[in-house]
Amino acid sequence: MNPYYEEENITIYHGDCRDILPHLDPVDLVLTDPPYGINLEKQSLGGGGGVAPHKHKTLHKGTTWDRRPHNDTFCSFLNKSRNQIIWGGNYFASCLPDKMCWLVWDKVNGATDFADCELAWTSFDSAVRMFRFRWSGMLQQNMGMKEPRLHPTQKPIPLMRWCIERCDPAQTILDPFMGSGTTLVAAKQLGRKAVGIEIEERYCEIAVTRLQQGCFDLSTGLNQEGASSPEKPFPSSGDMRHTTQLSLIDNEHRTGT
Ligand SMILES: C[S@@+](CC[C@H](N)C(=O)[O-])C[C@H]1O[C@@H](n2cnc3c(N)ncnc32)[C@H](O)[C@@H]1O
Repeated sequence: MNPYYEEENITIYHGDCRDILPHLDPVDLVLTDPPYGINLEKQSLGGGGGVAPHKHKTLHKGTTWDRRPHNDTFCSFLNKSRNQIIWGGNYFASCLPDKMCWLVWDKVNGATDFADCELAWTSFDSAVRMFRFRWSGMLQQNMGMKEPRLHPTQKPIPLMRWCIERCDPAQTILDPFMGSGTTLVAAKQLGRKAVGIEIEERYCEIAVTRLQQGCFDLSTGLNQEGASSPEKPFPSSGDMRHTTQLSLIDNEHRTGT
């Protein structure tokens, strides 16, 4: 099984996670954000999906990215790891064991039709925790270090970093639904080892480009409550070695549900 991309501590596989997972070693933490299968292409703006439909149609038409995983896929995550954090857990609760610790991401959306929060199911036996980080259309928590939107349901890097830090120790991390690679960027920033799997090659390319931006000094700018994003500004297309061209989705659209 050949990786799509490898660098120190980071590996990306391009393919279906159901085919690739059986070949991987167990990890400390599966941290992932599976597609919810909410059929975003058919939703109208403000209908609760949280993604600008016209942009989505243009850039993601005919793709498989939002296809809901089969229930068995969740069993393979549980078998492959000591701990799990699964965003969108409220869509998959019937496939997951009862657990007391859910994570809540308050997107500080204000009064809109979009969801106020997103929920992650976890394997932890501890109290429910909340992360407050604005991620609302053009508005982000740290406007000075604004993250470009590269995936319809992209998560903020500080959110994924916070998740990794909730699981101690999580030296090895797997994201089987990697998308634009947010989990891997967060893992890299924290000096952890991480593997990502993504079925759509365009997102593998985007993840590689984000990883190649390099890493920042964690002693500066890190705020676990999400007050700032340490990611460096995104490079211009001229800086990209591995990728051909990046499609910014839209700085104005909303992500998540
Ligand atoms: C909700 S998105 C993850 C977004 C990610 N958290 C980010 O910040 O960019 C889920 C991703 O899983 C991918 N995917 C869907 N089915 C897959 C499968 N069977 N194997 C691997 N990846 C898959 C989709 O293409 C999509 O990019």
